[in-house]
Amino acid sequence: MSKISAAITAVGAYVPDFVLTNKLLETMVDTNDEWITTRTGIKERRILKEEGQGTSFLAIEAAKDLLKKKNLDPKEIDLVIVATATPDILVASTAVYTATQIGATNAFGYDLQAACSSFLYAMSTGAAYIESGRYKKVLIIGADKMSSIIDYTDRATCIIFGDGAGAVLLEPNEEGLGLQDEYLRSDGQGREFLKIEAGGSILPPSKETVEKGQHFVHQDGKTVFKFAVSNMADVAEKIMTRNNLSHEDVDWLVPHQANLRIIDATANRMKLDDSKVLKNIQRYGNTTSATLPLLLSDFEKQFKKGDNLVFAAFGGGFTWGSIYLKWAYNS
Ligand code: COA
Repeated sequence: MSKISAAITAVGAYVPDFVLTNKLLETMVDTNDEWITTRTGIKERRILKEEGQGTSFLAIEAAKDLLKKKNLDPKEIDLVIVATATPDILVASTAVYTATQIGATNAFGYDLQAACSSFLYAMSTGAAYIESGRYKKVLIIGADKMSSIIDYTDRATCIIFGDGAGAVLLEPNEEGLGLQDEYLRSDGQGREFLKIEAGGSILPPSKETVEKGQHFVHQDGKTVFKFAVSNMADVAEKIMTRNNLSHEDVDWLVPHQANLRIIDATANRMKLDDSKVLKNIQRYGNTTSATLPLLLSDFEKQFKKGDNLVFAAFGGGFTWGSIYLKWAYNS
């Protein structure tokens, strides 16, 4: 029997309607379009404005998009993993609620949190279930309502992040397509540089933590930038070397969309032509767990069966890594 690999067989996506432009941000904090564009590459991001709607709203919409495109009965899904840094509520998993809402009544589900590397790690986790033969249909959703943890008076973070969701279906493949290799890393010494201080078990929420804004994301942008640039490029280069991939063999780089300069540095190290580097940061900003599946959804029509995709991500924690995957279908 040939080896079973985990292939992406469908994608879906959702972004909210409200567009937060650089121009609008100029009216909120001391910043300008030129600064944001040259430092980050971001022009606009989407924001989920409606009250009472959390990350599950985004996840459910992305999953429904996938189900419709694939014409898939949700009852066939075995497992739903929601990669997110912004769960609906604490303790009760967003994935469980999402699975129920989309009608995946035969699935179990759980959330996976690794900041901006959440989706990459979730693909690895989902693929392991498929490769083992234990499950046949695993739905991986990357979803984040970053606007729920952003301080819109802090110009160092509010210009970067946006809301969105994307989903992929993983299924067994016996043609040698799908996930080929992964190189995932983490380093806990990085947690000081990008975090939400309060609301967890070390510093539970209180009137004082809220007054100090400790429930918002804070980052040391310069340090995060430095680590992201070198580590994302390192892992992408490593995965190419150990799979004997030259820059000509790589059809697409699927990089986490945190900053255009980080993406370009990774692509340069891989010696990739710019036409192979997927980017939509200008439209969505950094949607954390959603960046990679949003790219897959936006560029799906350009992928051909057998194309070599290299994913690379870096995030808080620190967490980072790269995945090499062979695309499994023509749209
Ligand atoms: N508009 C205008 N000026 C701003 C600004 C803004 N939105 N934010 C910061 N500045 C100012 C700073 O106050 C500083 O001014 P000073 O020199 O007078 O002190 C100057 O611009 C440079 O700030 P600095 O933080 O050094 O800018 P930078 O080139 O490092 O860019 C980031 C800032 C946040 C864009 C960049 O560090 C970054 O992208 N970091 C990684 C973030 C990231 O990817 N996070 C998610 C992890 S996946």
